[in-house]
Amino acid sequence: MKIAVPREIRANETRVALDPESCKKLVALGIEVAVEARAGVAAHFLDQAYRDAGATVVPDANSLLGGAEFVLKVNAPQARPDGTHEVDLIPSGALLLASLFPTRNLDAVQRMAARNLTTFSTDCIPRTTRAQSMDTLSSQANIVGYKGALLGALELPKYYPMFMTAAGTTLPAKVFVLGAGVAGLQAIATAKRLGASVTATDVRPEVKEQIESVGGKYIGVELKQAASASGGYAAELSAEDKALQAKMLADHCAQVDVVITTALIGGVFAPKLLDEAIVKSMKPGAVIIDLGADGGGNCTLSKLGETVVVDGVKIVAPLNLPATVPTHASMLFSRNLLNFMTAFWDKEAKRFNLDWADDILKGCAVTHEGKVVHGPTLKALQG
Ligand code: NAI
Repeated sequence: MKIAVPREIRANETRVALDPESCKKLVALGIEVAVEARAGVAAHFLDQAYRDAGATVVPDANSLLGGAEFVLKVNAPQARPDGTHEVDLIPSGALLLASLFPTRNLDAVQRMAARNLTTFSTDCIPRTTRAQSMDTLSSQANIVGYKGALLGALELPKYYPMFMTAAGTTLPAKVFVLGAGVAGLQAIATAKRLGASVTATDVRPEVKEQIESVGGKYIGVELKQAASASGGYAAELSAEDKALQAKMLADHCAQVDVVITTALIGGVFAPKLLDEAIVKSMKPGAVIIDLGADGGGNCTLSKLGETVVVDGVKIVAPLNLPATVPTHASMLFSRNLLNFMTAFWDKEAKRFNLDWADDILKGCAVTHEGKVVHGPTLKALQG
């Protein structure tokens, strides 16, 4: 089988879907791997490293994708600067594995179905123990949380840690993390390691112990309805519970120096949790790091991909933070893809086994035989 790894063309993308280490493991399975020239350069993986790993380096996307049976990508295919679309370069009937975020990329999904591609999205992989090693949402969210905590430290006009100096003592910064999933827990742990005093909240009450285990203090709200949905995701709050949470947020945000928001519903869209009144109640010099930006933002005043200052409060809403840590982001992403490929690789027949009885394969399939087969994406397409 021939696997193709193109260079990502999304603006400001620095990651690559396959690093040389995972490439070598695919080649050892008897798979032919071709990589577009300079595909890994922004993540500091040079073409020679891929050649050393047993891959062929192909000069351009047209010739690379034209011969592909299976494409590995980071992002959903998109329009190219020359006006063509990445999907149209992939042979009809080929397979593709990427983090497609299909409900956010409906145009690409429809094109892939029309092109008769069989596609799988790593962000739709069911959250089972067996699937953990393939879960790009987790591997990349960990980076988001880490980098978000660092951004808070950089933007705050104060120290994070307490310092006792000859000139006097500075108190530790108060950091509040909103949403304690994978990104939130890493943000808590990183801010704590840097010496901040950290509080955190979530709508899933089961995370209290996890918050405490990484050094945070849990601040809960007694919700009237359970907010835990299947697969570890959160459900949207009822209007009554939203009001209860809003009151807690208004009280607590006014007391802290940094608010780091990571809340997502269903792993995809960001609920609006911080409004103008909350922002205006915060201390001058306070910082909001809106890590929900890729899902639309958790703060109503966020400008996605930008930094704004409102009444002395700095609101930073970075997009695609994993791309700011490209070497490790690509390495972990690659291992996720490698684990997926290995799980369905038939060693004897030397082919990818389309085992539709498998919950992982079935759960993350987006298009097959000319149709969209992913339930939430079909729903989004129907409006
Ligand atoms: P996520 O990225 O979907 O959401 C981030 C966090 O925001 C979640 O903790 C969610 O409860 C929280 N949230 C949503 N609405 C909120 C609101 N209004 N206020 C405050 N917080 C809000 O979640 P993530 O990080 O992808 O995973 C959540 C959980 O799923 C993890 O803690 C883990 O237990 C589980 N998980 C399981 C995996 C597996 O078994 N393969 C893989 C990854 C995660």
